Amino acid sequence: MAKILVTGGAGFIGSHVADAYLAAGHAVAVVDNLIAGSKENVPAAATFYPVDIRSEELGTVFAREKPEYVSHLAAQIDVRRSLTEPLFDAEVNILGSLNVLEQSVAHGVRKFIFSSTGGAIYGEPKELPATEECPPNPKCHYATSKLAFEFYLHLYHTLYELPYAILRFPNVYGPRQSPEGEAGVCSILTGLMLRGQQPTLYGFGAPLRDYVYVGDIARAMSLALDRGDCVTLNLGSGRGTSVRELFDIIRELVGYEGEPVLAALRPGEVEKNYISGDRAAAVLGWRPEVDLREGLRRTVDHIRAQFEKNNKAG
Ligand SMILES: NC(=O)c1ccc[n+]([C@@H]2O[C@H](COP(=O)([O-])OP(=O)(O)OC[C@H]3O[C@@H](n4cnc5c(N)ncnc54)[C@H](O)[C@@H]3O)[C@@H](O)[C@H]2O)c1
Repeated sequence: MAKILVTGGAGFIGSHVADAYLAAGHAVAVVDNLIAGSKENVPAAATFYPVDIRSEELGTVFAREKPEYVSHLAAQIDVRRSLTEPLFDAEVNILGSLNVLEQSVAHGVRKFIFSSTGGAIYGEPKELPATEECPPNPKCHYATSKLAFEFYLHLYHTLYELPYAILRFPNVYGPRQSPEGEAGVCSILTGLMLRGQQPTLYGFGAPLRDYVYVGDIARAMSLALDRGDCVTLNLGSGRGTSVRELFDIIRELVGYEGEPVLAALRPGEVEKNYISGDRAAAVLGWRPEVDLREGLRRTVDHIRAQFEKNNKAG
């Protein structure tokens, strides 16, 4: 059993990661300032600290918990906000992350696992599915700040021999992703269609993305505790799905009868991006297991139940 600190553990993916660590018998502490996450998402068996990763208080959490592993998911994740507020993006994703890294070195952490992005770092990749050998080509501040922190991890390994795993996520979807958020097209489409509102498909429905179910991502974060030292791995399915295909599956699951509005792509968005999971398969023994239709069914069921609960409460 290991002691693991999960930053961002009140958020969508972080809470599933915390669940996976607990299920594997580890002890988990969660740090999250709840700017986007919710206390309800934090598993009851985890110790919760409502702390900002940029704050000095983080040192107190490390001193008290003495984690052996750090799984770092807290972040400013909104691509469009990163374009309009680049300083805020860098404050959280670079300075905040650096604070977590400094504390990890100061308290002798054994391994640092970082949630990076394969959906944004490669920009418009020249080869598809993009492998880890593809040159990074960020099109927004969010991807740039994530890439910058990857370099800090390489540096801290060189300076302090801190082992790390950089896991580059594709488009992650599943229960607990907010239908009201700026990111998370599956939840957004589901929320709109459940309310009978007409969704807009940007890029006229054509953009291809790699959608991987959140439980599969959490499993990879768990495998990375003791496999893959100083590695960078894409957690991809290797398959691109168009937004139109996604819309059609969700429409059927929801029982929505309307058509979408079609519009041009927005700044910072790319046409085609899906990533190869071959290296993750070799290093972690990992492949996504939940197929898209089944994952979307679970997502729709979750959001429908949430809406029903809110309707009863309201
Ligand atoms: N969702 C995706 O498809 C996707 C894709 C690639 C990478 N990622 C990465 O995965 C991680 C989790 O993303 P998510 O989709 O679960 O987003 P999320 O917004 O649900 O989770 C992020 C969590 O971090 C917390 N947080 C933000 N700023 C903080 C701060 N200053 N101090 C403490 N906590 C803070 C938020 O409250 C939230 O709970 C992020 O690092 C994100 O960049 C996500």
